[in-house]
Amino acid sequence: MSKTPTDNTLQAIISHAKEYGFVFPSSEIYDGLSAVYDYGPYGAQLKKNIRDYWWNSMTQMNENIVGVDTAIFMHPTTWKASGHVDSFSDPLIDNKDSKKRYRVDHLIEGHADKLIQNGDQAAADKLIADMDALLANDDYVGLKKLIDDHKIHCSVSGTGNWTEIRQFNLMFSTELGSVTDEASTIYLRPETAQGIFVNFLNVQKTARMKIPFGIAQTGKAFRNEIVARQFIFRMREFEQMEMQFFIKPGTQKEWYEHWKNERMKWHLSLGIAPNKYRFHDHVKLAHYADAALDIEYEFPFGFKEVEGIHSRTDFDLSRHQEFSKKKMQYFDTEINQHYIPYVIETSVGLDRMFLLILSHAYEEETIHKEDGTTDMRVVLHLPARIAPNKLAILPLTKKDGLPELAKELMDECKKSFHCFYEEKDAIGKRYRRQDAIGTPFCVTIDHQTKEDGTVTIRHRDAMTQERIPMSQVKALVQEAINN
Ligand code: GAP
Repeated sequence: MSKTPTDNTLQAIISHAKEYGFVFPSSEIYDGLSAVYDYGPYGAQLKKNIRDYWWNSMTQMNENIVGVDTAIFMHPTTWKASGHVDSFSDPLIDNKDSKKRYRVDHLIEGHADKLIQNGDQAAADKLIADMDALLANDDYVGLKKLIDDHKIHCSVSGTGNWTEIRQFNLMFSTELGSVTDEASTIYLRPETAQGIFVNFLNVQKTARMKIPFGIAQTGKAFRNEIVARQFIFRMREFEQMEMQFFIKPGTQKEWYEHWKNERMKWHLSLGIAPNKYRFHDHVKLAHYADAALDIEYEFPFGFKEVEGIHSRTDFDLSRHQEFSKKKMQYFDTEINQHYIPYVIETSVGLDRMFLLILSHAYEEETIHKEDGTTDMRVVLHLPARIAPNKLAILPLTKKDGLPELAKELMDECKKSFHCFYEEKDAIGKRYRRQDAIGTPFCVTIDHQTKEDGTVTIRHRDAMTQERIPMSQVKALVQEAINN
């Protein structure tokens, strides 16, 4: 058996995700809703497993990190204090002929990609460097000139007939209650972080936390993204897994390094090759940060951000103190002083992590058989700990007492992990279906099981099979999950 180069095209992954019940376009019967997706049976389970793995690595493996679950709706002043009402916007440009709207950075990056495809890496690098410098200074006149100078055209109209560049706020708003006036306008949170900041003292006091300590949360966030593309990479409704780590002012550099390294270790613990990851330091810092970087992964469409590590200073707590007129200070008993803590944030998108895992796991594999013929299978090499199903239990036939034996094993194992039971179809076909959803182990119950209590266990990746006592199956699977 040999493996062909992985076909990791995004299109193949999208089709596979839909065919096998991982991800569907939202409200598909009405032709879907742009940049909004639903998770199907295996997708919902895989997403939960990734979320749980993150949650446990934060709140179970660190004695000084606790979790919260705060509301999506928050008092509107929260977003004035956080700076999102004034600054959470993207520079946009419209093409006057096609009326198509673009994010300026995406438009320029798209042109840089074309330069790379044409073999002119140096010109692409220069273009991106020029763009970063102009973005860092909010120089929209300069950015417009850059677009004009490079003759960057709209992909729909093919013209370079552009409007001026304008800012566009990314927050969705709605009304609380039935009266429409400005005071009742509230926002769907664009990040989960602010629910943590406004609860900083509630958590610190009730959980009796001492600095340094962290507060973690997972939950939905909403952004009115203009360029919504690349499947679940950029969505309008998505989920974040965020942790704010509260520290003594002046210690931010060392904690920034600490979390940068810890988070990379977490990513690599999922068995992904280090060369698929890289750090990208921010040139243009968000309004709240004094240092920031992205952890980038090489998706089928290139290296892109999956997680942000931000040194947020005391910006958020100070602003909430100013706007709410409530003290946000911490009393440090070790130095007998009050201060507003500094914060290091780790923020990873759950849906992006899901796409990362799928891109990494997906393989179209050619199998060279002993008789000289070849066969093909699509397999998801999901780590056992996050695979939706851990074990498929497959009686060889529907009769002769085999289903009864299989159900016995099912009852024993399902209390500990997700199992899947199936009697229908030839065994080879059943194996292929499990490969396609990433089930790490299949067990076949046959007539020999009745005689000596052994079963055939098949390993997904190597496709090897071995005969083991049925009584050992649960421990074997459990060990793989814990690894
Ligand atoms: N609290 C900080 C914050 O929200 P961010 O860099 O804007 O920082 C953090 O977002 C992470 O959230 C990103 O690294 C990405 O994984 C995810 N994310 C952001 N916007 C997203 C979108 N439109 N769709 C999917 N994931 C998104």
